[in-house]
Amino acid sequence: MYTTPFLDIPALDGVSGRVRLPGSKSISNRVLLMAALCSGKTVLHNLLHSDDTHVMLQALDQLGCALHVAGETTTVNGLNSDATGPRIELFLGNAGTAMRPLTAALALRGGEYTLSGTARMHQRPIGDLVDALNALGCRIDYLGQTGFPPLRIRSPNLDFRRPIRVRGDVSSQFLTALLIALPTAAGASRRDIEIEVVGELISKPYVKMTLDLLARFGVDVRRDAWKRFVIPGGSRYQSPGDFQVEPDASSASYLIAAAALSRPTGHDDGLTIEGIGTNSIQGDIRFAEAAERMGARIQSATDGLHVARSRWPLKAIDLDCNAIPDAAMTLAMMALYADGPSTLRNVASWRVKETDRLAAMATELRKLGAAVEEGADRLTITPPATPEHWRAATWRTYDDHRMAMCGALAAFNPAQLPIRIDDPACVGKTFPDYFETLFQVARPATSVPVICIDGPSASGKGTLASGLARALGYHYLDSGALYRLLGLAARRHGLAPPFQDAAALGALAKTLPVRFHEGRVWLGAEDVTHAIRSEQAGRDASLVSAVPEVRTALLHFQREAARLPGLVADGRDMGTVVFPRAPLKVFLSADVAERAKRRAAQLRARGVDTKIDSLYADLVERDARDRARTAAPLKPAEDALPLDNSHLSIEQSVAEVLSWWQKKQPFRGA
Ligand code: DC
Repeated sequence: MYTTPFLDIPALDGVSGRVRLPGSKSISNRVLLMAALCSGKTVLHNLLHSDDTHVMLQALDQLGCALHVAGETTTVNGLNSDATGPRIELFLGNAGTAMRPLTAALALRGGEYTLSGTARMHQRPIGDLVDALNALGCRIDYLGQTGFPPLRIRSPNLDFRRPIRVRGDVSSQFLTALLIALPTAAGASRRDIEIEVVGELISKPYVKMTLDLLARFGVDVRRDAWKRFVIPGGSRYQSPGDFQVEPDASSASYLIAAAALSRPTGHDDGLTIEGIGTNSIQGDIRFAEAAERMGARIQSATDGLHVARSRWPLKAIDLDCNAIPDAAMTLAMMALYADGPSTLRNVASWRVKETDRLAAMATELRKLGAAVEEGADRLTITPPATPEHWRAATWRTYDDHRMAMCGALAAFNPAQLPIRIDDPACVGKTFPDYFETLFQVARPATSVPVICIDGPSASGKGTLASGLARALGYHYLDSGALYRLLGLAARRHGLAPPFQDAAALGALAKTLPVRFHEGRVWLGAEDVTHAIRSEQAGRDASLVSAVPEVRTALLHFQREAARLPGLVADGRDMGTVVFPRAPLKVFLSADVAERAKRRAAQLRARGVDTKIDSLYADLVERDARDRARTAAPLKPAEDALPLDNSHLSIEQSVAEVLSWWQKKQPFRGA
């Protein structure tokens, strides 16, 4: 997950290949609670692990439910129905799928609880559910504003003789909450319990999903249109044993859209989204039909959905989106690429989601150059008239995961402009690795941005470059490590200083089995992270790096490191040879005395005792050799910006280079 303050996504050309998406949030939180309400054990497969499911897992843990997470499986042991201890305080973040059903389940169960969440959760309505439950004899009080969490719950005095009336036109989660909570009560009271929906029920597919899942857990609810629901007396949750959570259909919408926006290349076209089909029980799978109407080609096969573009520009759409409120946001992004204005109707519920999504979408889409009309419950989007009308924007996300995921779809713009996503970590709510997943299958439309940090040994390049990479969420290439690795590999092959067998070294470099993974460096199966940091390895590197055959052979390793969303590369010739067109090149230097001091401190931290004098002499000798060699000598690129960091802290150096980088960016409208 990207935890940087912002993430810059370069212009994208398309997506292809295969992806596997995390489990559905809506299914995960429903089945977690249903499994907890069963007696006995349920093993859940492919459960989503994200902010919203973690609050549910944590709440169940606090309630005394024994949970065990191991790799792909989560084992849930049913709650003991009699055990109600002292008052329990549950914090439910901003997860509506935890707050609403837990309120109902706990209010009916007995015991004392307080339920709270984030500031936004305390602005999201729950009054209709509380009214319905209190009319039954539950005892729920508001601890803050009437109609909103936080709530206090005490043991009820239940009376099921009258039907339960609940409003259906604010959030379908109120009905879902009752449907999940009442079977236990119906089992205990041995009489049918009836729910009557007041007003038009919105987001019906989510209620349908609840009913499907209840059936999988042994509870058959009778349904009369979308008005009346009867939970039969004597109902009892029964564990299905194992349960496979489908990949999230709402998450899939972004990748379906990306595939529909992909420019065909003539080979390997299309994206396969594994493990999900149009027979999914998730309502948002119906997004696929809307995407097809706009110009996606979607085939549902046994291995998943195959998606590609079928027409361009996309066709504008006018659609009642009440059944797919979440995925409808993705349609708003596709509308940017349509042949005219699109209208998404009947989405008033957007106003009470993680943020006011109607207002947020309108504001952000306008920044990109679209004309947007925001109605009380609809959005009309007119795409930018020509590529020249597109703008490179800072896309705000309002702590709303779907805003962030949608924003990335602006990267397919025909003007090939990058997009900056603010607070990318908010995708953690439902899809923590969203951006990583997208980058795995995406093709950049232009070259991936590279920042080059060149300079002499021990000038602090590595520290600066990795600090920049962390700040920007970019990959990091330590090119010196490649030469150090080669020195080590050469010794293993019986070559020795002064390494004059150019042909043998070149051949070795071409097939160097190098792997950089999570901060560690591997030579074949051997972890050489420490071995390549010795002073001898540094001297060897300086020698093998002077061999032209070696430099040519190692070029492709280095250029391959330029992957989405960007790269910070450090070395001697990043700006001059490897990435000559990089948009920012820095030539870092520091006094030799200062560099010798830093290197000594580094070595001492690793338990190696050295003399400053010999380090000083060694640096002078290495600088001279790196400068004098004919192959890619150490020198600043013509367009490199010099930075002498002799008297700067690491933070100051990073801040300075970041400010140079920011000045080169086109983003507007923070
Ligand atoms: O940056 P470093 O100390 O890890 O580099 C080790 C040696 O590798 C250094 O003496 C010069 C050489 N090198 C190079 O020639 N070109 C690069 N891009 C990086 C390092």
